[in-house]
Amino acid sequence: MTTTLPQTRHLATAVPGPRSAELHARRQQEVTAGFGVTLPVFIDRADGGILQDVDGNRLIDFASGIAVTSVGAANPAVRERVAAQLERFTHTCFMVTEYSAFTEVCAWLNRHVPGGFEKRTALFSTGAEAVENAVKIARAATGRPRVLVFDDAYHGRSLLTMAMTAKENPYRLNFGPFPATVHRAPTAAPLNRGGTPRTAEEALAGVEAVLAEHGPESFAAMVIEPIQGEGGFIVPVPGFLAGLRRIADRHGIVLVMDEIQAGMGRTGTLFASEHEGVAGDLTLTAKALAGGLPLSAVTGRAELMDAVHAGGLGGTYAGNPLACEAALAVFDQFEDGTLLANARAIEQAARAVLEPLQAEVPAVAEIRGRGAMLALEFADPQTLEPRPDLARETAAACHAQGVLVLVCGTYGNVIRLLPPLVIGEDLLRDGLEVLAGAIRTVAGAPAAATVAP
Ligand SMILES: Cc1ncc(COP(=O)(O)O)c(C=O)c1O
Repeated sequence: MTTTLPQTRHLATAVPGPRSAELHARRQQEVTAGFGVTLPVFIDRADGGILQDVDGNRLIDFASGIAVTSVGAANPAVRERVAAQLERFTHTCFMVTEYSAFTEVCAWLNRHVPGGFEKRTALFSTGAEAVENAVKIARAATGRPRVLVFDDAYHGRSLLTMAMTAKENPYRLNFGPFPATVHRAPTAAPLNRGGTPRTAEEALAGVEAVLAEHGPESFAAMVIEPIQGEGGFIVPVPGFLAGLRRIADRHGIVLVMDEIQAGMGRTGTLFASEHEGVAGDLTLTAKALAGGLPLSAVTGRAELMDAVHAGGLGGTYAGNPLACEAALAVFDQFEDGTLLANARAIEQAARAVLEPLQAEVPAVAEIRGRGAMLALEFADPQTLEPRPDLARETAAACHAQGVLVLVCGTYGNVIRLLPPLVIGEDLLRDGLEVLAGAIRTVAGAPAAATVAP
């Protein structure tokens, strides 16, 4: 694939460099303190697996703007279609006058989203909006108020989705009160900490208990991520999603699959729920859907999607034409299967470098994930207490060497990898070696003392 930037890591200055530091100081004077930042460098250009900053550093991108720019941040086909649309019009509002790209995006999602039933799609702009609208649709279709969500869930920052999100700090802290109709159930967690369930059966029993407490007939929806993203790249234990499907069917609850982070090819299949052979009644997409332009979607059973009264769904920017054109360019690139194969190849390359660390560095508790959605969890080897300090220090060491990795997890002790699916093999390997080196330096056992002769 042709890219606009050399696909090599290059450090021209310290990271962040002086120009970034200057711009960051200005930002602090002008931008709310409520926005955090992972790495205060200012980006000048980005493409393929590279972010080039204003000091001339080329950083390896293991973040993709949090799982968004899977096809690269300056993808030629996306640029072309968006540029052509810019010449025609930027906006009409689909609720006022129509345009075909909106319909075509819906048609592609109706065809490709899991579930062998007739579907309809609604488009919005952000992931949180898709989640909110899925709840609206489920309530309208069932006439029920409650929503079931899970431990370690992340669904957004709007008032309802924040209530659905599990992690207190920073997402919920000081922002309550929250709607009383959101209830949380256990998932089977990857590491057995604090008595969390280990098996699908145990977790599903916990789900049934929460439903029973409030009356299962009062639940409109249960919303689950097929791999939990911000919560720590938690892959569901085998049988958990299928069990949720059975519970939803038994009680007439709408099963909502939040594929916002894990979907659109990230895990090596178009949708992460395909790994479990489970289809949601409603499936949510956003992030990588439109190659960096803001677009989100709710796709699902026609009878649910059409249960809403005319005018009940929408939004000024919902399905913006530039974003729809970008999505159509992304869809074309899924046709030949290369992007999915890339995701699987990224997993193989990453596991080859990272898995040996588990034997070598005791605090590396687990390496998990699927495709190009992989994570490494730090915990105390004896107590399994989370070690967020090691995740933070490892990330900082990677950043200093020009590799952008993100930290996640309910306990902040997980390093996650979300490289663009178009990242080149050499660049990927270079970034992985930097990460492995950083882990050895930060968390490795101290070098064995040399025995005096
Ligand atoms: C699984 C999941 N759902 C919903 C959201 C919210 O998306 P947005 O930030 O576009 O509102 C995110 C964002 O990280 C996500 O990972």
